[in-house]
Amino acid sequence: MRLQITICLLLLGCLVFVTCNPIDKNEIPLTEKEWWQTAVFYQIYPRSFKDSDGDGSGDLKGIQSQLSHIKDLGVTAAWLSPIYTSPQVDGGYDIANFTDVDPLYGTLEDFDNLIAEAKKLGLKIVLDFVPNHSSDKHEWFKKSVKRIDPYTNYYVWADAKIVNGTRQPPNNWNSYFKFSAWEWNEERGQYYLHLFAIQQPDLNYRDPNLVKEMKDVLRFWMNRGVAGFRVDIISALGEDEALPDEPLSGNCSPDDYCYLNHIYTEDQPLNYDMVVQWRDVLKEHAAATDKVPRVIMTESYSEIDKTIKYFGNETHDGACFPFNFYIIMGISQSSNAQDLKNVVDNYFNKVPKGRTPNWVLGNHDQHRVADRVGVKRIDGLNMLTMTLPGVAVTYNGEEFGQEDGFVTWEETQDPQAINAGEENYLGATRDPERTPLQWDDSKNAGFSTAEKTWLPVSQKYKETNLKKQKAEKESHYKVYKDLVKLRQADALINGDFSSHVEGSNVLLILRKLNNSKLFLTAINFGDIHEEVDLSKIDKILAENLKIEVSSVGAAQTQGSIVSNGKLHLHPYESYVLSKN
Ligand code: NOJ
Ligand code: MG
Repeated sequence: MRLQITICLLLLGCLVFVTCNPIDKNEIPLTEKEWWQTAVFYQIYPRSFKDSDGDGSGDLKGIQSQLSHIKDLGVTAAWLSPIYTSPQVDGGYDIANFTDVDPLYGTLEDFDNLIAEAKKLGLKIVLDFVPNHSSDKHEWFKKSVKRIDPYTNYYVWADAKIVNGTRQPPNNWNSYFKFSAWEWNEERGQYYLHLFAIQQPDLNYRDPNLVKEMKDVLRFWMNRGVAGFRVDIISALGEDEALPDEPLSGNCSPDDYCYLNHIYTEDQPLNYDMVVQWRDVLKEHAAATDKVPRVIMTESYSEIDKTIKYFGNETHDGACFPFNFYIIMGISQSSNAQDLKNVVDNYFNKVPKGRTPNWVLGNHDQHRVADRVGVKRIDGLNMLTMTLPGVAVTYNGEEFGQEDGFVTWEETQDPQAINAGEENYLGATRDPERTPLQWDDSKNAGFSTAEKTWLPVSQKYKETNLKKQKAEKESHYKVYKDLVKLRQADALINGDFSSHVEGSNVLLILRKLNNSKLFLTAINFGDIHEEVDLSKIDKILAENLKIEVSSVGAAQTQGSIVSNGKLHLHPYESYVLSKN
């Protein structure tokens, strides 16, 4: 509305005064943003979120019972990791039926109820789309093994290489989870490709029937009301058809994924093309229904130039972005403010014009922020991702700083950890970040009434849980909630952005928009006391600034005034400040 009024006033001004003065760039009314461009996406790991039936695994009814928590956080949408029929070899990323719900999680009816309830609350639901592989228990795979058409070429099959009379895989490719990416199938008399677990055969996107079938999967869930998809490991989708050996990377041991340089199995041209085709399917659906754009968020851990290409080019409009994992990949316990600035700037400078940046702090494949970067840095990092331009993505539990749990070798579920073996599993396991969500300090952290949960509840739950943080005067949860609310401000949506390192370890992010309240995020990323002169960055910062959000335990609380540009920061202390 305000946009239309501004346009009218500008036009009127031009008519009255005949000549138009050139307009300052910042005064040009910005195009209205679509819902997803300013969204916070909240990732739910369904098996660990909330158990409604006491079987020790989270489920859809459990999620529905906690939608009020999600709504309360102020986030835009919940993205659900896979809920589909699955033997659960890889946490549900091994799918035996792409268009049904696993009994572990409930039924399609439960899903419809969840969607309906979310809609009432004004929350959107995004699903995980796993196009690279299915489960070996999928009907398609069973029929492909038997060469029953049209399934014969739904998977990547290849003949054995015979070396000195013995059967060998077609090439040297390795699985992400260690060992050869090829598995011999006696019945078919060929090898099949599995870039992940043996039970996850790779689908073949050179088969037009398969391509169509997977598009129908998208349509199936959109017809049930989903707002978009997170696309699992898009980088692995296609492979070079000639199946050449990959060159050695010079790192790791021969069985490891990192032993090879993945020039024939990652980020192939086919991947970029398929994303464009899926975007069209989503656009068609929006055009035929409520005209609300559906979103695609793609997952890849590739080098930046290859990742950026998943944004598409200027001819591909529509709601689509590749996850920005560069904070996850580039920032650790030993990083400093300059490292953080570099990661932010390098990414930001690569985002193509007109595209929406995004900031991801964690997911179910990465150790929790508390462990990866440090408990004391949780609030500062949430301030950063919530006040940078674009989309923010939060992994469940990070809104109150849940830490990794401890999972013994006997309790281990993650196939990547199992393949690493008992000696090395701790270096490979993703189970610690998947332990049940810590709701309160009752039995099983309020997650389940079961005697045994699918992964153990972390012993830290008495100290770190949502209920406690809701009751506390200051908590990570409250900081998070305040930040999500603050994101509605004009300058945080449309303002320009600059980053600065001051003192020895302070990162400053300035967001400015003409005629709007400005915002400054100040993060002390280190363990020493810092005193910074903000006016060095911008004279205006010497005027009175108001503290909008303070990290837990900070000396200055919400509403305090910082004057003369002199900001004191205790170790790890962080603030978001504003100026009218
Ligand atoms: C990426 C997912 O995030 C991960 O959990 C899974 O193991 C692989 N893709 C295979 O689907
Ligand atoms: Mg359950």
